[in-house]
Amino acid sequence: MFETKTVNGIEIIEISNAWGKAEISTLGAHVMSWTPVNEKPVLWMSKKSYFEPGKPIRGGIPVCWPWFGGVKKPSHGFARIEKWDHAVYELENGATMAVLTLDQAELADFPFHAQLAVTMGKSLEVVLTVVNKGETPVTVSGALHTYFAVSDIANVRISGLDGAAFEDRRASAAQVTGHVQDGEVAVDAEVDRLYTSTTADVIYSDLGTGRSILVEKLGSYSTVVWNPWIEKAKAMPDFGDQEFRKMICIEAANAGSDSRILIPGVSHTLAQKITVL
Ligand code: BG6
Repeated sequence: MFETKTVNGIEIIEISNAWGKAEISTLGAHVMSWTPVNEKPVLWMSKKSYFEPGKPIRGGIPVCWPWFGGVKKPSHGFARIEKWDHAVYELENGATMAVLTLDQAELADFPFHAQLAVTMGKSLEVVLTVVNKGETPVTVSGALHTYFAVSDIANVRISGLDGAAFEDRRASAAQVTGHVQDGEVAVDAEVDRLYTSTTADVIYSDLGTGRSILVEKLGSYSTVVWNPWIEKAKAMPDFGDQEFRKMICIEAANAGSDSRILIPGVSHTLAQKITVL
């Protein structure tokens, strides 16, 4: 089942089925919430998030594309601030699939087609497929920039990245490259890590709730783990000062050396599948 409502001129698709509930904004093809039955919400959303055309939403699953980070403005690309078209399908297995598409954007400098398919069944699957509709190859980067809700950041342990090389992308980092993850990731300060060569699935455990979540990915050799911590949270107008305690971003990325060359007519797919264990 699904319904749509309009807030600030932006359509929100509300999905519900036997597996749970989800909300998807057509601004940015952005999954704003996902709550499986008998579970607390899996995704985090800032109480101070903007929700207006032209501004990114802070929380849920931002679609960062066709570039990752601040290499150009706006940060993380234009896909997350554009209005996407949508269609919703009820699948025979009881899952619901919303398909969002984007074919043009003022800031685009090559013709493209982007599609985000969000399927809510037992898991939440988010599949971004992009095609270069032009005649010359282009290089793109991006991420499914998922914000997970946690009881307290001190309770979070992330496994699956042990031994993976990472770049430390904090402004304060003495050295960006040359780091290797040792054991689980725990967060007790700002973390902005680009794991540069990993296809691994990740599990994060929340020791406060006892809940573990499996985060699988496809089409990605890079994973980003981000928590802004105190100072950076304070510096962001759309992020509450204490909200960093309640979230962790685990992102399936095509970032840095994992940027992709899109040959004309050939598609690339980046996907994330989230399951409460
Ligand atoms: C992360 C980056 O993916 O996104 C961080 O690694 C960045 O460096 C963060 O601060 C949030 O970006 P934005 O543009 O949504 O504020």
